[in-house]
Amino acid sequence: MMRKLFLLTCMAAALTLRVAAQEISIAKGWKFAIGDSTQWASPTYNDQNWKPISLAHSWESQGYKGEDGFGWYRLHVVIPSSIKEKAYLKDSVCIYLDAVDDNDEVYLNGKLVAKYGGKGSDIKTGNYGPRSYTIAANNPAILWDKENVLAIRIFDTGGDGGIYGNKFTIGMADLMDPVSINNDAEFSYGDNNSLNKAIKLTTTSNYVYKGKLAFKVTDPENNSVIYDKTNDVQFTAGKPFTYTFNIARLEKRSYRVSYTFTEEKSGKSITKTDGTPYVLTPYPSSKPQINGPDVYGARPGNPFLYLIPAGGKRPLIYAAEGLPDGLKLDVNTGIITGVVNQKGDYPVTLTVKNNLGANTKKFIIKIGDVIGLTPALGWNSWNAFGLSVNDEKVRVAAKTMIEKLSAHGWNFVNIDDGWEAEQRAASGEIVTNQKFPDMKATTDFVHSLGLKMGIYSSPGPRTCGGYLGSWQHEDQDAKTYGDWGIDYLKYDWCSYSEVTAKIPNLDDMKKPYQVMRASLDKIHRDIMFSFCQYGMGDVWKWGAEVGGNSWRSTGDITDTWKSMSDIGFNQIADGPYAQPGHFNDPDMLVVGKVGWGDNQHNTHLTPDEQYTHISLWSLLSSPLLIGCDMGKLDRFTLGLLTNDEVLAIDQDALGKSAKQAIKTDNYQVWIKDLADGGKAVGLFNISDQYQTITLNRDENDLKGLTKIRDVWQQKYLITSGNTYTAKVAPHGVMLVKLSK
Ligand code: GLA
Repeated sequence: MMRKLFLLTCMAAALTLRVAAQEISIAKGWKFAIGDSTQWASPTYNDQNWKPISLAHSWESQGYKGEDGFGWYRLHVVIPSSIKEKAYLKDSVCIYLDAVDDNDEVYLNGKLVAKYGGKGSDIKTGNYGPRSYTIAANNPAILWDKENVLAIRIFDTGGDGGIYGNKFTIGMADLMDPVSINNDAEFSYGDNNSLNKAIKLTTTSNYVYKGKLAFKVTDPENNSVIYDKTNDVQFTAGKPFTYTFNIARLEKRSYRVSYTFTEEKSGKSITKTDGTPYVLTPYPSSKPQINGPDVYGARPGNPFLYLIPAGGKRPLIYAAEGLPDGLKLDVNTGIITGVVNQKGDYPVTLTVKNNLGANTKKFIIKIGDVIGLTPALGWNSWNAFGLSVNDEKVRVAAKTMIEKLSAHGWNFVNIDDGWEAEQRAASGEIVTNQKFPDMKATTDFVHSLGLKMGIYSSPGPRTCGGYLGSWQHEDQDAKTYGDWGIDYLKYDWCSYSEVTAKIPNLDDMKKPYQVMRASLDKIHRDIMFSFCQYGMGDVWKWGAEVGGNSWRSTGDITDTWKSMSDIGFNQIADGPYAQPGHFNDPDMLVVGKVGWGDNQHNTHLTPDEQYTHISLWSLLSSPLLIGCDMGKLDRFTLGLLTNDEVLAIDQDALGKSAKQAIKTDNYQVWIKDLADGGKAVGLFNISDQYQTITLNRDENDLKGLTKIRDVWQQKYLITSGNTYTAKVAPHGVMLVKLSK
């Protein structure tokens, strides 16, 4: 999200231990009030009657259960000028808060000195996370050696709220705070698959940094050094230093790359690390091949749309034998359209041909009450663009999906928050904002490609992004979606807490979803209904009954190992509830270029963590919603998203979620039952070192499953005896399929 008012970031200091004298702790002595008032920023406001609050826990756990929205924290603190003595950079002060849930404005002696989150002047959108704000040491808001009043205004969008964590400090910015090692550029492939990359040393300070940059490549399995090179470097504000390396072709696994800058005078250093990307998915074949699920559900009497996912050299010619009455196939595009009135299971044989051959696949069209028989595969705008999504970005996503992904079954193009106007039309109808000039035209375009269109709303008066929600307009909104041709609705919870009980009970939690379900049932379209209330009230226990095709089981994901692995490896209680038509949703994918706003960066997950992410989500039968800028798909990300055997695990017709079968401190094994009697098994290394993980066929129902296939590489493994042993990279996975 936006970070406007502060000049530099002091993240580096926040993450490393600093000379204590350069900072003071502000972890204790805070007072708190729920609500909002401009006077609460003032240093002269009398907060004597405010209650003390601890920064160790959220406000919910300290007597403010069910409180969302605004709350203020105040602290009286002396900032001693002695903290400047040992500092190299005497011109910048850093305020570090670990962490804020969800948005904040920081006032020092009544003046706004920093803020995080927000759309325009509104602070209601942001993200849970640490804040490190740097302000100039000569900012008149700071009263050196006197009592200062630090007042922090928080807006909590829902669930836990407040300022809570371990470390809270005010201190001088460290010499390395304004320095960053920018390794955001992509790895590119040179001749013979060599890897190249340019990295940049930058600073926002006028200090002239001189020292050494050490570049090192190590093999994480045995820590042996493969490349090691050190250069003299110099950089200052506006004059970065760029270093480009080129390393020869490596094996199919990830190597650790580190970049360490050591400043010569202070001896201080900072390091950034990378993992080299490696593509496991085989190069796509030119021969025709039908991919995608084995079953597809639609409701009788509603418009039907299915694009047969097929790989192979174009042009392809399609055929479908056994289509029910009412459906027709375009033999050149593979798009099946029409309406089927009669309920029933219709076995169909799909065929696709090109000048290199033909391929057929058995497929069942189930016309009945349940849609979304396999988890949705698609794209959603949020993790890439946040509220800055616009029509053009959506069209780019749709075009890219057709060019690069739909052959593998990807088909939803979902617009998240940020398309709605701020005011309804006089008739009460929902309207788009200027970023979406004609939603019907956009939807028609998406449909013309054979793809489907998704949209987002909230049951409250406002969405999480502060746009219009569907509160008391549910019928009208469902009708508008129907008129536009929408195929998927993600329905959030934000601001519904303003119109329901302070501590909602189970009925209160179900209510908004029941209301919208009823509204959707009045229009004649198959609209996938995706609940987004972060797992409240164990939604997996009632999501299907209330008519959800999927339900979020967690809070929002971000592109860190902690976020992704905490979410993914905790999908345990909800697992048994996954079934065809109704799936747990551990949130959208964070591979490729993500950013939640105007600026995108390569995901901060390492290549191995990304293999883990896609493998685990597939084992869990989760909806897979790509969250990146589709206009900038790189070769590695494309490999992650186009592996048909991995996607087949996600799309398996049995619709079960994998179970955690083994859990140790270092690794976990998850096993998923498959429709053909086989099992998909993920051997996950959750540690920082290589691990040897053994699977015993005498355990975990694996008896009799003698064949074992490396799913990512799509090849059978030769094993003997009853055990299979794999060496798995740190935070990586070995995904195998066992069959008879
Ligand atoms: C919530 C959801 C996100 C996204 C935003 C939109 O935070 O969990 O996935 O939809 O709202 O504002």
